[in-house]
Formats: sequence, structure tokens, C-alpha cells
Amino acid sequence: MSSPITKAVIPAAGLGTRFLPATKAMPKEMLPVVDKPAIQYVVEEAVAAGLHDVLMITGRNKNALENHFDRAVELEALLERKGDHNRLAKVNESNALADIHYVRQGDPRGLGHAILRAKMHVGAEPFAVLLGDDIIDARDVLLARMLEEQHKRQASIVALLEVDPSQIHMYGAAAIEATDDDDVVRITGLVEKPDAADAPSNLAVIGRYVLRPEVFDVLEHTAPGKGNEIQLTDALQEMAITPETSGGVYGVIFRGRRYDTGDRLDYIKAIVQLAVDREDLGSELRPWLRAFASNLD
Ligand code: UTP
Repeated sequence: MSSPITKAVIPAAGLGTRFLPATKAMPKEMLPVVDKPAIQYVVEEAVAAGLHDVLMITGRNKNALENHFDRAVELEALLERKGDHNRLAKVNESNALADIHYVRQGDPRGLGHAILRAKMHVGAEPFAVLLGDDIIDARDVLLARMLEEQHKRQASIVALLEVDPSQIHMYGAAAIEATDDDDVVRITGLVEKPDAADAPSNLAVIGRYVLRPEVFDVLEHTAPGKGNEIQLTDALQEMAITPETSGGVYGVIFRGRRYDTGDRLDYIKAIVQLAVDREDLGSELRPWLRAFASNLD
């Protein structure tokens, strides 16, 4: 029996060019979704699944990230003096969440390259990867299900979402075989950002992975691929076709709510969808939205 997984790696070193100029001096993972930075939702998700050891892969604008998960002594003192315990609790929410570590990627040479930076911290255990700009709605279960499948199959696990064929060119696409579990498939191949005509399916890889440590050996020799970046998809493709040495790759099909906050349109939708269900905002936002929508052509 393997020991339970405790480590989560959160890559947050991408340049976020789709979100310029907002991301000129701030990582896209720090953009607020309602009133919390996207990455705080992601850390909360890791912790909720029992992963208390979090390694963030940061880039050139790492200060905002580190400060967010650290104490804010002046702010705390001010709110304490005012007796504003509500807001004080909000300030402190992020400092005590998890045991957070940081490593810098240096050159952002792709997601695969970012993950490789986690090798020393992770060691020889399986670990989870959560992309810092990808939010899974806390009301829908994904990571816990993936951890369960990793334990059962001792393979690497990716999260899959069925997307419209017109969208598949933005994702890694999976070639699959069914298993006895309705929400689990065996991955027989992966292609990064294919044209719709070349995609092996409309099952897209989204930002959650539970990986065996063999991924590091594979990433070490993975050549730059699409966009001249070292692609995690390419490493997983190799693992999918060498199950005897790498344990193989399975996919858990997610049918819940997911928000890609690195994409401007999805970001706007995420804020609206999360805010309408919030106790403090929903009752005012819903009627306003209805009236606003009824005036659109
Ligand atoms: P994206 O594919 O969204 O790329 O990265 P990006 O460069 O951040 O954004 P755009 O396309 O220019 O707008 C997916 C995830 O991988 C991380 C990102 O921070 C994001 O969480 N990433 C990407 C790295 O950590 N390092 C990289 O070199 C590339």
C-alpha cells in the first residue's frame, strides 16, 4: 500500500499574456474572482483534499503571491484597533491555510518545465498538480476522486472535461479506452492543442493531475513541443504508451463546474456564476442581472 499523497504543486509562473495589461506586473493567479485571488481557491481545494504541503512555482512577479499567503502585520493591527474582526478574519484566512513553499522557474519554458522544478521538493512520491488559474467549483468533487483512482490504479491520473469540438484546439486532447468505471478512462494517447480535425476525442485535459514521480525522469528528456515550450502533455503521452515503466495514465471525467480564469471571457463568467450564489451578494446581483440581460439584444 502506498502512503497517502500530501503534496500539491501549483504552477503560477506563466506570463499570462492573454490577460495583458492586467498581468504586466501581477501574476494572473492573483486576479480577484469576486473578492479572493484565483489562487486562493486553488490552495483551498488542495487543502480540502488533504494536501497540506503546497509548493508554488513562481515567476518574475512572485512578490504579490508570497505576500498574499503571508501575515500582513500593519493591516492586522489596524483592523484589530478598529475591532473589525470580520475583515481581520478575511485577512488571516490565507496565511494559515497550508504549509506553503516556493521555487522559482526562472525562464517560463512551459508547464512541463515548471513541474520539473518541483522534483527536489516532491522526491519519490506521487503528488498532485493544480493549475493556479483553473478553479474547480468547491461544490463539485474532482481532486478527491482523482486521488482515490491514483491509489487504486497506481497510475498517473489526469482530469478530463468534455468540450465542444470547436474548443479542443485550446487543450490537450485524449485518446481513450473505456474502463469498468463510468467516469474513468484509460489514456492511450495525448495531443497538445490539436486542430479539431486531428483531435482523438473531445475530452480535454484540464488543470488537475495526480502524477507518479516517474514524470520527472520523462520531463528531463522531453523536447520542446507546441509553442517551443516543454509540454506536460508530451511527457504524459510518453507515460501513456510506456505503462510498464511509468505506471500508465488514466483520466477521471469531470462533469462539474470549472472556470479557466486565465481566459478573459471565462474569467467574467466565473465571477458572475460564483457571485450569484454568494449569500452576501446573490440577492442583489440576481435581479440586477435579470434586468440587465432582458435589455440585451
Ligand atoms: P497557460 O497555458 O495558461 O500559459 O499556463 P500562460 O503563459 O500562463 O498564459 P497565456 O497563454 O500567456 O495567457 C497554464 C498554467 O501553467 C503555468 C501558468 O502559470 C498556468 O498556471 N505555467 C505556464 C508555468 O508555471 N510556467 C510556464 O512556463 C508556463
